[in-house]
Amino acid sequence: MTMLDWSDARPETPTAHHPVSAAEATGLGVIDRAGGRVSVDDKRMINCRADVNQLLPLKYKWAWEKYLAGCNNHWMPTEVSMQADIALWKSRDGLTEDERHAIKRNLGFFAASESLVANNIVLAIYRHLTNPECRQYLLRQAFEEAVHTHTFQYIVESLGLDEGELFNMYREVPSITDKAAWALKHTQHLDDPDFVTGTPEADQAFLRDLVAFYVIFEGMWFYTGFAQILSLGRRNKMVGIAEQYQYILRDESIHLNFGIDVINQIRAENPHLWTAAFQDEIRAMIAAAAELEAAYGRETMPRGFLGLNAALCEQYMHFIANRRCAQLGLAPVFAETANPFPWMSEAMDLKKEKNFFETRVIEYQNGGALSWE
Ligand SMILES: [Fe+2]
Ligand SMILES: [Fe+2]
Repeated sequence: MTMLDWSDARPETPTAHHPVSAAEATGLGVIDRAGGRVSVDDKRMINCRADVNQLLPLKYKWAWEKYLAGCNNHWMPTEVSMQADIALWKSRDGLTEDERHAIKRNLGFFAASESLVANNIVLAIYRHLTNPECRQYLLRQAFEEAVHTHTFQYIVESLGLDEGELFNMYREVPSITDKAAWALKHTQHLDDPDFVTGTPEADQAFLRDLVAFYVIFEGMWFYTGFAQILSLGRRNKMVGIAEQYQYILRDESIHLNFGIDVINQIRAENPHLWTAAFQDEIRAMIAAAAELEAAYGRETMPRGFLGLNAALCEQYMHFIANRRCAQLGLAPVFAETANPFPWMSEAMDLKKEKNFFETRVIEYQNGGALSWE
């Protein structure tokens, strides 16, 4: 006899009945008038046969908590003043050529990446994640990705940047294209209208997509980008963009942790998917992604600038890659290394470091009431 276990991540036996139909998975099929009520034990992350239109009873409290945390972190890019950034960008010698190059590449990488991430959530992940509380979070995350894309529109407009140059970098700058193309391979597999989960091969393809986007795109590649801009912010340069990046980083750290929880819960419910060979494959994906990021670092910072260079960014990526492996219960892929940017964790904790850049911070968390002026 086993003890009752109320933890969210308990292993369960895989469902043995018929594969879930597309209509059951989407929640848009014919309503089952005679169907029984949903029991919490019927709920599953993937291949679930319980009604996906019923949020309650909640099973995965971690997903609901992340939805609430995302709502509490609400912000809009237009609340951040760009005056200091505009003056610095237009000044003759406020920024070095190397700094300008890195800033433009950085903005170009993020501008299209936010859309790639959003499209992957909405068009590839949502319909296969058969749990309403996870979908509730995905809807919130999709809005946050729209806010992030809005941020790059606002930056381009404020600084008077060439929008075609920035938004095409993911097609025109090889070190950026290589990353986007690598991640897209994994979403293209799911984008096939005939793709359904329910076989070990398909379920593993779904896990690969989750790793490629949540763990690698948002959880590794975005972090070099944050370090580049926040390092300038620490030197009082581009403080408006740095403040926006702080908010994006706060959002992304929840996206990443949601993705890790999703993957680990799917693992717990479907242990047959997490084979030794599959674990090796995921570790190889993480190692390859770190190498793509090192190439991006060399291209965006050929000479480096004060406090930041390609070698330090590569070391940071190795540190982050090993952390992501640990979060997924995998052996590290690189030799143990120290975090070269310990100040990044301060930047992540907005409550503690409210005046990180000594600019205006709107605290939605404290302002309960909305005013409609
Ligand atoms: Fe984002
Ligand atoms: Fe994100």
